[in-house]
Order: sequence, then structure tokens, then C-alpha cells
Amino acid sequence: MAGKMWAGRFTKEVDERVNDFNSSISFDHRMYKQDIEGSMAHATMLGECGIIDIEESKKIVEGLKGILADIDSGKLEFDPTAEDVHMFVEAELTARLGDTGKRLHTARSRNDQVALDIRMNLKVEADEIIALVKELENTILNMAEKHLSTVMPGYTHMQRAQPITFAHHLMAYANMLLRDLGRLDDCKKRLNIMPLGSGALASTTYPINRQRVCDLLGFDEITQNSLDGVSDRDFCIELASAISILMMHLSRFSEEIIMWCSWEFKFVELDDAYATGSSIMPQKKNPDVTELIRGKTGRVYGDLNTLLVMMKGIPLAYNKDMQEDKEAIFDAIDTVKLCLKTFIPMLDTMTVLKDNMRNAAAKGFINATDCADYLVKKGMPFRDAYKITGTLVHTCIELGCTLETLPLEEYKKLTENFDEDVYDAISLDTCVMQRKAAGGPAPESVKAQIAYVREKI
Ligand code: ARG
Repeated sequence: MAGKMWAGRFTKEVDERVNDFNSSISFDHRMYKQDIEGSMAHATMLGECGIIDIEESKKIVEGLKGILADIDSGKLEFDPTAEDVHMFVEAELTARLGDTGKRLHTARSRNDQVALDIRMNLKVEADEIIALVKELENTILNMAEKHLSTVMPGYTHMQRAQPITFAHHLMAYANMLLRDLGRLDDCKKRLNIMPLGSGALASTTYPINRQRVCDLLGFDEITQNSLDGVSDRDFCIELASAISILMMHLSRFSEEIIMWCSWEFKFVELDDAYATGSSIMPQKKNPDVTELIRGKTGRVYGDLNTLLVMMKGIPLAYNKDMQEDKEAIFDAIDTVKLCLKTFIPMLDTMTVLKDNMRNAAAKGFINATDCADYLVKKGMPFRDAYKITGTLVHTCIELGCTLETLPLEEYKKLTENFDEDVYDAISLDTCVMQRKAAGGPAPESVKAQIAYVREKI
């Protein structure tokens, strides 16, 4: 781009390497819509306040509309040598309108302009992420409804611990995602504050009406300090942090699905459309999607870290370091959207192998706590009941049987408190059905959990 907007102060053209290094249009062009909408509001306000001629203000708005339409239709392409999207749009406007176009930047700096554009852009992105998380929630809830009685082992330390249902397990994720939605909503509150009018750093001497721009663009309120208005990127960090936590949840879920797909577990089978094969091993069906989500989580954490480190040493107010915010936050956004868009249909088409889940739950003395509880209900102190049950498990291991198949004589050898009804008390179904405390795995409790999340989203 020959002849910089700021050329008056300089006696030389900028070095091509500096120009390339400095330019952000390759990644900030995605804010063109917000840049143009922001400029239209600004021009409208300038006209209304008599800072520029009202007729010229109208021409600017029309000119900007034309540029927006031409970019949308592909008629107008971004100039890769432009410094950024803001300079590009302004130069294009001036090319179209002549001197009138040059009046747009009155009472404004790119510093408050870019702060406005990112906020507007991230509001749109946050809404898209929220919609995708809600879609995932619905997929999980529908699946949970079908598996209220699908018994599976619950684990601690990766050891079979107590029986739960697949619905109960799924609902743990539904609750994590509900908190993610809360965090994203919270981000939106602080995104929705309008910085334009902060100027380069010290506002402006023109009699602008910031509230008017705020209203035109649908923001909740205006920023309260011009230095902070141009140099705050907390909202990027907050969004990247909410996305990082969301990715952490997707990654944990992915990790479990990867395990469940293994021959060692075989709890689920992925649809062929959502798995991949090996170039050498014909038998392989690999859960690549989930592995990539697990891998990309690290990348999003990197984006968050980039933003945190980028900001920590910046003196007030704007410094060019802050241009680095965009690639990081856009990468986090694109990555989480891509992950959600792939994860949702993958989960939706996944086959749940109920029998394998149940068989796994039947092994591993998962009902030992219930056996001890049986004795407690007959009046024995829990610690004694715990010890006796431990001895029973030991006997089972020696005899190669389970608590369900251990003969009653063996039970009675340890205490006369055991009767025929112990078998019912330790049956897998009883173990699950009896855990009906709020938040527990019993179907009625999980139904309540599903209703709660449905209501919240
Ligand atoms: N491209 C710049 C950015 O993203 C816009 C602001 C430039 N301001 C400046 N004073 N150089 O941060």
C-alpha cells in the first residue's frame, strides 16, 4: 500500500519487512463487519452532534454499507499490504467518497476502534459457543434419558468402586457444561461495555456523545476511564479462560471415550463415520476425534497463556504488543468451536454396549460397600461391618467367586447377621436403585438431575 495514512511525519517509505511484520490484516480482517458497524455508529453520532456535517455523515454511512455489501459478496477483497482492517476500510471509504471519507476518523483513534471491534466480535463468538454448548447439553440429556437403568461401574483411582448408571455418568458432564455456560454468560457481561470515545488514550476535545454510540451498537454501558478503555484486554483473557475450562471438560470426556473404545473396556463403539483406520493394521478402529480434542486442549491453554503473558508487563495505555491478542483469542475460539462441532455428532451416534458395562460392574466387588451397609442396617457398627466384608472379599478371591455367588454358609461363618436376603441387598440393581439421595445414580434421582439441567438451559 503506497503512501501511509501517517506519511506526513515521515521522510521515507516503511521498510517492506516492517510493513509485513506490523500488519495484522491477515487475521483481523475477520472483524470487518464489526469494524464497519462501529464506524457507521460513530459517523452517525458525529453527524448528530454537529461534529461533521449531517449530510456527510449520511454519505459515510451509505459508503460503509456499500463496502460491507461488497466484502460480503466477495466483490471487494482485502488488501494484504494494508496495515490492518481499520486502515483498509478507511482507505476504501476515502477511495470511494474522497474528502468525505477522510472525515470518518474525527474524534476517534484506532486504539479505541480496535477495542470496540474486538468486543463486538467476541460477543458474536461467545453466543456461537454458547449455542454449541447448549446443543451438546441436549445431546447428553437425550442420551441420559435412554440410559437411566444402564448399570456401569463407577471408578475412583481407576479401580471399580461402586455401581452407577451411564445416565448418572453422563450427567456429571452435563453439570460441568452448565458451569461453562455460566462462565460464558458472565464473560458476555463484561464484553458488553463500549470503549469508543476513549480516543488514543485521553478521550477527545470534540463534543461526542458516547452514550448514543453505546445505544446504537446495543452495548449495556460505556467504559468509565479512557486509559483503561483502550488498554483493557481482560475480556479476551476471561473468554480464553472460560474456553480453556470448557476444553478441559471436553478433554476429560474424550479421554473416557478413548478408554471405553478400547478392547479392555468395550463400553462403547463409535460410528464408522466418526472413527478412523490404520494405514497398516487392518483391525484398527481409532478414536481420533477424541484424541485430537485432548490434544487441542493444550493448544487452547497455550492461547490463554499467550494472553496472560502478553498483558502482564504492558504500561498504560495502548502498546502494539496488544495486537497479539487477536491470533490467540481467535485460535481459542476456532478450536473450541471445531471441537464442539465434531464432538456433538460423534457422541450422538456412539453405540453404548450396555451388556459390557453391566458385566464390568458385576466384577470387582463393586457391591462390597452395600454388603457392609447390609450389616449396619442389622445393627452392626460400620467399622466392624467393613472388616467382615473385607474378609468376605478375600474369601471370594481365594475361591474364585463373587459376593453374589458366595454360598450363604461362608457368610454365616463370619456373622449370624447374614441371611438369604443379603443376595438381594447386594444385587447390582438394588445397589443402584437404593442410591436415591439427591445427586445419586438411582433413576429417579438422575431424572431430577436431567430436569434441572433442562430447565437451566
Ligand atoms: N492493528 C492494531 C491492533 O490490533 C490496531 C491498533 C493500532 N494502534 C496503533 N496505535 N498502532 O492493535
